[in-house]
Amino acid sequence: MTTLPMFDVRPVPAKSVDADVVATFSDGKKTISPKGGYEGLIDRLKKAETLGTKAGAVQFVRFGGRKPAESVLVVSLGNASELTHEKARIAGGKVYAKLSAEKAKSVTVQADLFAGPKGDLDTLALLGAFAEGLILPAYSFAKYKSAKADAPAGLGRITFVTKDKKLTAELTHNLKYIHAMGEAVTIVRDWSNEPSNFGTPEYYAGEAKRIAKSYGIKCTVLSEKECARQGMGLFLGVGAGSDREGQMIVLEYTPKKVAKDAKTIAFVGKGITFDTGGISLKPGLKMEEMKHDMTGAATMFGATLLASRMGVKNKIVTVLAFTENMPGGDAITPSHVLKSRSGKTVEIWNTDAEGRLVLGDALDLAQDYKPDVVVDAATLTGAVGIALGKLCAGLMANDDALAAQIKQIGDDLGERLWQLPAYDEYFEDLKSDVADMKNVANDGMGGTIRGGMFLKQFIKKGVKWAHLDIAYTSSGISHLAYMPKTGASGQHVRTLAKFANDFS
Ligand code: BES
Ligand code: MN
Ligand code: ZN
Repeated sequence: MTTLPMFDVRPVPAKSVDADVVATFSDGKKTISPKGGYEGLIDRLKKAETLGTKAGAVQFVRFGGRKPAESVLVVSLGNASELTHEKARIAGGKVYAKLSAEKAKSVTVQADLFAGPKGDLDTLALLGAFAEGLILPAYSFAKYKSAKADAPAGLGRITFVTKDKKLTAELTHNLKYIHAMGEAVTIVRDWSNEPSNFGTPEYYAGEAKRIAKSYGIKCTVLSEKECARQGMGLFLGVGAGSDREGQMIVLEYTPKKVAKDAKTIAFVGKGITFDTGGISLKPGLKMEEMKHDMTGAATMFGATLLASRMGVKNKIVTVLAFTENMPGGDAITPSHVLKSRSGKTVEIWNTDAEGRLVLGDALDLAQDYKPDVVVDAATLTGAVGIALGKLCAGLMANDDALAAQIKQIGDDLGERLWQLPAYDEYFEDLKSDVADMKNVANDGMGGTIRGGMFLKQFIKKGVKWAHLDIAYTSSGISHLAYMPKTGASGQHVRTLAKFANDFS
């Protein structure tokens, strides 16, 4: 069980805490207030060169029995002139790791020490990024461990200390949303990490209903029977080899007051609870990672939850296509032709290109709600890892301004995306001799683009669309200090929620 730290903001620290967090810059800019009383200590640490100069370098000093703080953790923010939000987030992640290792439960953060080293980076935003870095690593997936005591110790309470009234009000407000972000990201990670014997389509449908209810979001689940009635041949085809029933989950978020100019955003997510590849069976090595193949759906669910907590002014309809890709007597095989909900027919060449199939029907369903923009997220292709590695997710769109907007939000939040082209000529490779299209071409080129081009066929005229291929960013992000070292990352939830907020 993950316990997220609680945040608060106070003018003076509580009587006793485990550690006091003080930030300092390495290029000599004086930011330590005399009242903090740590100037001498920090000078000594710097002179002794035990405190690194890079943003995120930490040094922990234990005093024992001292009030109000037992110990102090000094964190360097690097050179003041080079500080970015992402560096502050990373510093938060490193501070979290050190404090957890030292078994600190309650800490104070001297908020005024983040006072604008540079005009365009204000204290409030830096503190927000630092707080994100403190809450994002707070995660453990220990539900299937029998020795519960092994669960890592985490921070219980983080108190930001400042006497500045304006900063107190604004920071208190922002921390509320940062905490809500932590809750949404935790749900995404829990969903993604769930093994597929427990994490079945019906499990996610039940959880979606339960959680959506507590957020005041409408949730409807379409059974396979209903999906058949609606002609979702692609979605049902993928699940045909599995004994577990697929579930098409539809969530509807409506703001408390719907303004005249409110837009409707459709979020669509790939929810393959396990991807064996089907009859085009995957090799065994690392196949266990395919339990994460529903992370597009989890991410869209989390983004919807966070957007609702943020009180986003737009409407959101979220369609999550949950099913399992298994070989079996009823499984689809290469050469099969399936009819989609949209009416378009698809020749199957490879049953392992299943994500685009379930999304084809889900995108079509989502457009029944007359959205102004559709965004999908999917662990769609291995090729995105070859193109971009783990540092950026793939981004495609039928509208460059839309892609630019999403990319910019991602850059600001430390969730990078990189746009790949969606030229219609790429679709030539997916033309079929027997159906309207085939699900792959077999020369292994432009894999991520072709996946996106397949999806583009299901977007109606005049509807803006963007696609996030998160196959290599949604899990195993060990290079980022504020991410869990293994398992699901929960990346791009923040970007998508912010996009839902900003879109106009
Ligand atoms: N779920 C996989 C993509 C994937 C691969 C996600 C590695 C995470 C890590 C997807 O369904 C898939 O199998 N894609 C195929 C497409 C191919 C058959 C055109 C792939 O990437 O090999
Ligand atoms: Mn696959
Ligand atoms: Zn897949």
